[in-house]
Amino acid sequence: MTTVLPDSLTLGSVRVETPVVLAPMAGITNAAYRRLCAEQGAGLYVCEMITSRGLVEGDETTKKMLVFDELETVRSVQLYGTDPVYIGKAVEILCADHGVAHVDLNFGCPVPKVTRKGGGGALPWKRGLLGEVLEHAVAAAAPYDVPVTMKTRKGLDDDHLTYLDAGRIAQESGVAAIALHGRTVQQAYSGEADWDAIGALVDHVDIPVLGNGDIWEAADAVRMVEQTGAAGVVVGRGCLGRPWLFRDLAAAFHGEDVATLPSLGEVKTMMRRHAELLSEHMGEERGCKEFRKHITWYLKGFPAGGELRHRLALVDSLASLDELLADLDDAAPFPERELGTPRGRQGAPRKKVVLPDGWLDDTDGRGSHLREDADEATGG
Ligand SMILES: Cc1cc2nc3c(=O)[nH]c(=O)nc-3n(C[C@H](O)[C@H](O)[C@H](O)COP(=O)(O)O)c2cc1C
Repeated sequence: MTTVLPDSLTLGSVRVETPVVLAPMAGITNAAYRRLCAEQGAGLYVCEMITSRGLVEGDETTKKMLVFDELETVRSVQLYGTDPVYIGKAVEILCADHGVAHVDLNFGCPVPKVTRKGGGGALPWKRGLLGEVLEHAVAAAAPYDVPVTMKTRKGLDDDHLTYLDAGRIAQESGVAAIALHGRTVQQAYSGEADWDAIGALVDHVDIPVLGNGDIWEAADAVRMVEQTGAAGVVVGRGCLGRPWLFRDLAAAFHGEDVATLPSLGEVKTMMRRHAELLSEHMGEERGCKEFRKHITWYLKGFPAGGELRHRLALVDSLASLDELLADLDDAAPFPERELGTPRGRQGAPRKKVVLPDGWLDDTDGRGSHLREDADEATGG
């Protein structure tokens, strides 16, 4: 049986012209990167995670992250929090003061600093608290007709799965869609994403399920949707140093099999554009420094000497970037052996998931959240 691929995605009042979402990635998916990806093809481009407490208390770092490109028509933000009241207030601020059209909630972060406080991937264990957080968010967004979605993992570990309950609770709370990263918190980014879990969630709920984990090429996204019945995909690490993946993804969901294989010359143009957009948004020096982390991803598999890579890793102006890029061979073809291979974070599973004392003792947790940090920005 061949699946009819979705060619768009509907999240409440928001319609996305291709069923593809850029995964929120802390330190990566800022306004410049979202614009760069959006220039490639349609999709929903989510802002890096911001904390509800930071937003409500007017924290400066949080405010700086809440920047949108002038061409960003759908402002989409991922919010982190553990306190239903703060989350509700933060959603209200996003909708009322920042023109945000979509709010995603982070219930997947595996970082010990976050799970220790019962946040991120730890929170869905407390089903009652999860329901409270979702209900507050949905109620705050409703007057603005803004859809709320949630993003989560399979569970704490294989013995403490939460995703099916989370899906049911999301549906009952009026959440517009649920994105599932097919790993547990304990796995962090190691091993392979379990797409069968995504399929099981699709069978379990009536709201749209977005599949996430290990999409490295457009063909993987198509395969995931065919295999799971997901309404769309969320793509993270696969687009690091490869914003053109969004062009391929948009084409794939509209029935065309495109695999963009840019030459090094074309990659250089993309790198320049990325650094330029970062500079426009943050000022040249900070923008170029931010750009440094992307260089290895752009050049992965291309011929570039160690000395040049080293100098690129210290770039601090657009002029020096141009000078260094000029030393790269424009004609070098795309290294096809890189296709379909993992990039970005992988690492090892965690020995144990760090949780608040007694967290596993009950699964309700209504009214029992811990205070979150205002400056939490480690992602998910
Ligand atoms: C650098 C980095 C930062 C991330 N930050 C966040 C975040 O802020 N919020 C979140 O929900 N997930 C975050 N994630 C997880 C991704 O959104 C995504 O779920 C995960 O990488 C799996 O998808 P992928 O295999 O397509 O990368 C982050 C991942 C990476 C690599």
